[in-house]
Amino acid sequence: MQVVGRFAVGIAHDFNNLLAAMQAATELIAARPGLDEATLQDAAQIRAAARRGAALVRHLLAFARETPTAPRRLDLREAIDDLVPLLRHLLGRGVRLEIDTGVAALPVRIDPTGLDQVLLNLAANARDAMPDGGTLILRCHALRRAGTRFAGIEMRDNGSGISPEVLPHIFSPFFTTRSEHGTGLGLATVQDIVSAAGGFVAAESTPGAGTCMRVGLRIDDTDDDNQAEQGGAKRLLLVEDEPVVRRLAERALTSWGWQVVSVGSAEAALALAAGDGKFLAGLAAVVTDMELPGRSGAALLAGLRALPGGAALPAIIVSGHAEAVLHRDPGVQAQLAAGAPVTGLLSKPYLLPELRARVAAVAGR
Ligand SMILES: Nc1ncnc2c1ncn2[C@@H]1O[C@H](COP(=O)(O)OP(=O)(O)O)[C@@H](O)[C@H]1O
Ligand SMILES: [Mg+2]
Repeated sequence: MQVVGRFAVGIAHDFNNLLAAMQAATELIAARPGLDEATLQDAAQIRAAARRGAALVRHLLAFARETPTAPRRLDLREAIDDLVPLLRHLLGRGVRLEIDTGVAALPVRIDPTGLDQVLLNLAANARDAMPDGGTLILRCHALRRAGTRFAGIEMRDNGSGISPEVLPHIFSPFFTTRSEHGTGLGLATVQDIVSAAGGFVAAESTPGAGTCMRVGLRIDDTDDDNQAEQGGAKRLLLVEDEPVVRRLAERALTSWGWQVVSVGSAEAALALAAGDGKFLAGLAAVVTDMELPGRSGAALLAGLRALPGGAALPAIIVSGHAEAVLHRDPGVQAQLAAGAPVTGLLSKPYLLPELRARVAAVAGR
């Protein structure tokens, strides 16, 4: 577990299951007799995309190994509310989801991606324990344990339950009772993430009646403003349309002490900058993907530098193309010719230390 890394394990676990299912399903489709050529071609494309996805996972694994987690202060209730659509989707039609997040805010300090992984892994297990349908009750509330205040999460299902012989092993890495598709990494990942956040996790189960998983996260009473002051962090604008890559970059940059504002498109970035006169002045640099939907990274940069206070904005353009190709891009050439402050070009896939060094170089840190 230590070798593979917490984030990498979570990603590999969830993605590989999805990709395996996609590949298997397209193989089944392609084997059906009497299909026309166009359908076969479409199936082949889906399979090829799933294979590319698997390659991407390997990729993420390679550099996620160096990614420390980026804990921040968040309200547990809000995090759960945000995740509800995804939870419902994961559980499917057969499982009813009942949620009670109480009335009081529950501030905790944890990596947000990690918290999502905890909730999704627990929900996936509950779903698998209720193949004929059932109810999952998700509650959160404040509790006290050994004099410390915790935010408690409770996930209760009325599924198969866990036998007393199996129960002591469920958190062990690679322990699974599933003959197919089980990796045994779900609960090990949960335990790892929760322990890293200074919390605890416990299971209680009655075979044939259901299981209740409890997670406790230490309540964080510290003052937000104080922490921002202490960090002395400088702000970066991160523009990347691929959510997985965006989160990963955001986590990495945050862990290096930057305050990161991240958006998924050039239009969103320009709207932010145009909507708040002080936004650009408070920015140390922009890190943008070149290939964005709509306006490109180079066009975004031109747009930002045309705004009041944006002329000297340092920037890094990240691209799936090699640097040499990027240098030939008319948009990038125009930026370089305009003599704007250092424009770092970084080709994807990049290694995190490289990103760290480039950002430090252009943003003067
Ligand atoms: N809610 C649950 N109900 C019944 N069994 C569960 C539940 N959660 C976990 N388990 C048991 O714990 C084992 C380990 O779970 P996990 O670490 O998520 O790995 P996996 O889901 O890949 O088997 C499962 O194989 C299952 O036997
Ligand atoms: Mg699981």
